This record gives sequence, structure tokens and C-alpha cells, in this order.
Amino acid sequence: MDGIRNFPITRRELLKAGVTSATAIAVPSLSLAQGTDPAATSPPVVEKVSFQVNGKQQSLQLDTRTTLLDALREHLHLTGTKKGCDHGQCGACTVIVDGRRINSCLTLAVMHEGARVTTIEGLGTPDKLHPLQAAFVKHDGYQCGYCTPGQICSAVAMLEEIKDGVPSHVSLDLTARPPLNADEIRERMSGNICRCGAYSNILDAITEVAGSRA
Ligand code: FES
Ligand code: FES
Repeated sequence: MDGIRNFPITRRELLKAGVTSATAIAVPSLSLAQGTDPAATSPPVVEKVSFQVNGKQQSLQLDTRTTLLDALREHLHLTGTKKGCDHGQCGACTVIVDGRRINSCLTLAVMHEGARVTTIEGLGTPDKLHPLQAAFVKHDGYQCGYCTPGQICSAVAMLEEIKDGVPSHVSLDLTARPPLNADEIRERMSGNICRCGAYSNILDAITEVAGSRA
């Protein structure tokens, strides 16, 4: 009791003290972060990168932090490749690099010196659609169309994977060529999200093209 009587502080004063000390801690740590982070003050590192995009040689001077997706969209103005999540979760940014499909938002452009990049613009033309583009139109495999370029690029590379005998998580026999069935296609396309839910029509489109190649 004596201790309480000898320390006369009201609840209001205690709260004020708490707010003041919290500010005192937060302000120096913020300024410390701003003052000591070299990335916040140093100029960007710019490097030249050359690669082939849709059969055409391209050379760019890029901030080394530029993703392949931003290089394609912002520097080469190939806006067919879409930015959905920018976090590797939706597949909207899928392009084909040296025959493999990748999420272009998750990779830096400077890592692809000398690579062959194919985007949706490189697959077909309005007069001469790629078979998968034509199948998506025929089967109504899209609604808003935002995921479609990524779906088609992904499907093109996926059919090559099956042809090369690459197994998936649902392949029952790891040594045989995987079957071109719905389970395999669904599993292999699971990295491409369609927010419109056009999955059944997408599956129909891919199944048709897969069947014609079996
Ligand atoms: Fe790249 Fe979503 S934008 S995975
Ligand atoms: Fe709209 Fe797939 S068609 S997100």
C-alpha cells in the first residue's frame, strides 16, 4: 500500500506516458531505417540485357530489379502478357522461355540474357490463330479474357511437357508417357487461375488440341 501511495500517477498520466514513449521508440527507428538503408539512397544499377522475343532480337538497358514481366509490358509494350497478382500466384503473366513456361513476374529480366522468350503475341496472328487460340475461341474458354494469354502460353508448353513424358503429381506411372486426360490437364494447368471460372471450357479447348496431337 505504501508503494502505491508513494507513486502518485493517474491512469490518464500513465496513458500519456505510454504514447510518448512509443513515439520516442518509433521515430528514431524510422529515421534509422531511412538513413542506413543503402538501397533507399543509391542510384539504381542499370545493365544491358539482350534476348529474343517472339523471334525478334531485343536489347534493353534495364534497372537490374526489373522483372521480365515489366520488361515485356513497360519497355517492349507487349501488353498481351498480363499482370495479375505480381506475386507468382495467378499465372496471368505466364510466358515461354527457352521452351519452359514461367511466371514472368517472378524472374528478373537480366537473368535471361540470350534467352528465347515467347509471349501470346508470338503464338499466332488474328488471321492465323495458333490451334490453342482457335480452340479457346471455339469453346468459349474465356469471359473477361484477363487470364487467357497466360492460360494459352501455359497450355502450349504443357502439351510439350506431356509429349516429352514429363510426369505430374497425378501421373500413375512415372516411366510411361503421361495420358492426355482431364486429370492430367487440370493438374498441369492448376497454376493458372481464372477468376471468371471458365475452367470447364478451358479444359474442353485444351482437350481438343491435346487429342489432335495424341
Ligand atoms: Fe505473375 Fe500473377 S502476375 S503469377
Ligand atoms: Fe476472366 Fe479467366 S476469363 S479471369
